[in-house]
Amino acid sequence: MGIEIEADVSDVIGPVPRRLSGSFVEHMGRSVHTGIFEPGHSTSDGQGFRGDVLGLVRELGPSVVRYPGGNFVSAYRWEDGVGPVESRPVRLDPAWHSIESNRFGLHEFAAWAEAAEVEVMYAVNLGTRGVQEAADVLEYCNHPGGTELSERRRANGADRPFGFRLWCLGNEMDGPWQVGHKTADEYGRLAAETARLMRMIDPDVELVVAGSSNSEMPTFGAWERTVLEHTAGLVDHLSLHAYYQEHDGDVASYLASSTALDGYIRTTGGIIDDVLAKAGLDKKIGISVDEWNVWDQRHWNEVEQRELIDGGWREQPRIIEDDYTVTDAVVVGSLLGSLLRNVDRVTMANQAQLVNVIAPIRTEPGGRAWRQSTFHPFSLTSALAVGNSLWLSVTGDTVHTGLCGRVDVVDAAATFDEDGRCAVFLTNRATGSSTDVRLRIRGARLALAETWTVAAPDGHDRHLTNSADAEPVRPVPLPGATVAHDPEGTIITVTLPPLSWTA
Ligand code: AHR
Repeated sequence: MGIEIEADVSDVIGPVPRRLSGSFVEHMGRSVHTGIFEPGHSTSDGQGFRGDVLGLVRELGPSVVRYPGGNFVSAYRWEDGVGPVESRPVRLDPAWHSIESNRFGLHEFAAWAEAAEVEVMYAVNLGTRGVQEAADVLEYCNHPGGTELSERRRANGADRPFGFRLWCLGNEMDGPWQVGHKTADEYGRLAAETARLMRMIDPDVELVVAGSSNSEMPTFGAWERTVLEHTAGLVDHLSLHAYYQEHDGDVASYLASSTALDGYIRTTGGIIDDVLAKAGLDKKIGISVDEWNVWDQRHWNEVEQRELIDGGWREQPRIIEDDYTVTDAVVVGSLLGSLLRNVDRVTMANQAQLVNVIAPIRTEPGGRAWRQSTFHPFSLTSALAVGNSLWLSVTGDTVHTGLCGRVDVVDAAATFDEDGRCAVFLTNRATGSSTDVRLRIRGARLALAETWTVAAPDGHDRHLTNSADAEPVRPVPLPGATVAHDPEGTIITVTLPPLSWTA
């Protein structure tokens, strides 16, 4: 197999937003409790934050972390998570059939985010609650002082406002599974009124209105249009959620997930433009891909949900602690490539989630924290994808997929920054053969600094996973790349191993 890629460092799609490397912490399963927070763990600090997890989070490199849900937020009372811990109520969490102790809440997350050096993206409950409660939590967080709510925050130990800028107006309100699920009109009206009041309280907020839960929703498209007709003048971003999985061993289609995500983003972008044009609004609304990942939802739907209910109401049950394989890591790498190719539309993106729940980082209560296979494409992309995303022309071999028809055998994305650093991200979708790549980059005389590949190590197959005891799936240098120069720029050749992701 072979492919040619052409780029010109002056031919840019747009700047790579730092917020593209976002993540997500939900009160769900063991994401918070025994994930990021475990008082008494040997590595925990005085606040109960696991030091081993914080170390891995810094290595992973997320820029912004969404909190506190997810489906959880749609029945959550934010006040339960503030004030003296001993007087916080224990509640049922209907979304995840769990008991929520509320030992970890708003102040704890703000402190954790500071320790992790990430921006907070805070979601308000528009399922069981509404305009007033959203305004209240905003005032509590961001108003300097002198009002009942802001003074309560100060009395609870945060003298200075948290100053959260990014706010989600509810979560997946199009989904019948959502507590307080609404029609597009009902949600659009509520989101508009909530946005209006939130902007009165703090004009500097950036607001994310909820788009579709996935592109297979029967309301996809119509939902975006109606919701935006209510809210376009009031919001900055529209959310898009996307999870991918391998169906019945169809690995070719699974490896084409990034092409499907490209289409989902472009279609959503077109609807945004259409609504803005019809409303005569001269503004931009970005796409916030604030939940994306690979996730075996069949196992969740057919097995885990029933086990969760049968297990009764419990604190921090194990929920969707998927073990990720080499294949999953390669698909995650290609999805990151899709986000990079679409930076003209995508203003931020959050891999869902950060710890334990379909996450790149896993923990054992009282035990180790470790990197799943999917950790590596994320951390490398977060570190290397800086500057502008480049337009690429890809020609050569293709593979046939049930999901997207013919797709390029290599999924490609590239960035170039003002210091002359170029990063190229390549996914080889060929499962049985290596692929030769000839990459011409015009306008820059480049040397090869490093190459990293995630693939099945010799003697192992594409289903290999990491565990608390061993992390065999990790990036290794890719030998054999060549670099040449001509008057136009740089020519790099490289051979990608079968089913691999390379930076
Ligand atoms: O990330 C897990 C869940 O997936 C989130 O709570 C929900 O928003 C989505 O359906």
